[in-house]
Amino acid sequence: MRIDVLSIFPEYLAGPLGVSLLGRAAEQGLLDVRLHDLREHAHDRHRSVDDAPYGGGAGMVMRADVWVRAAEAVWNDRPGVDHDEPVEGDRFVAGGQRPRTVLLTPRGRPLDQPLVEELAAEERLVLACGRYEGIDERVHDLVATDEVSIGDYVVWGGEVAALVLVEAVSRLVPGVMGNEASPVEESFGATGLLEHPQYTRPAELRGHGVPAVLSSGDHGAVDAWRQERAEDLTRQRRPDLLDGRGDGAGDRATSD
Ligand code: 6GU
Repeated sequence: MRIDVLSIFPEYLAGPLGVSLLGRAAEQGLLDVRLHDLREHAHDRHRSVDDAPYGGGAGMVMRADVWVRAAEAVWNDRPGVDHDEPVEGDRFVAGGQRPRTVLLTPRGRPLDQPLVEELAAEERLVLACGRYEGIDERVHDLVATDEVSIGDYVVWGGEVAALVLVEAVSRLVPGVMGNEASPVEESFGATGLLEHPQYTRPAELRGHGVPAVLSSGDHGAVDAWRQERAEDLTRQRRPDLLDGRGDGAGDRATSD
């Protein structure tokens, strides 16, 4: 999967995107994440990417012309396109045919695992990081195919949201996660429950032990315990996840 990220702070993203699991996925060729500096598409003397708002008021607004140039450059940076002599219909254009382009903005669709799964199915994603103060409405119309938010709070810019999205999407790319984890059992996985508690050695720590069933060797009992604990946790902390499951998990009495 290829992911292009457009930002005025590409260096902010370079560190986290180069490390650990993501770095390994990149080395294995499973994930191709490229960072782009929006400012390279600002053509005036000061390389400005924003301007005063029409109608007046405080703050600055990110310019749509800069975003359109940057997006078209990134969209068309692909094998098989001759940049000097574009064949009619062979170029991605603002407002027309274009790869899935996600604008990170607090007004977007709240990110959840179903949306992550949908985005992970794309061959290519372009992530557009806006700054919170504002972005010319025409970027929403001409550049973005989707608008995504990471929650009901405001951060300075879309960069951390882009990181969240890359982390969530990349682990669903086949081969990236390996055998390290099960996407079925984890929280928000196919069970629709929060994940059951986990333990490892030591068997006793500061007076806190490990549930005996986990050392019983009875796999059926272990499975049943984990299922119950997952249901209890979900009922206590995220009853909203149980609404509409229709399997009674939300109705059963909790076991503690
Ligand atoms: Cl995507 N951007 C900003 N600036 N704030 C947010 C957000 C995005 N999602 C939640 N808050």
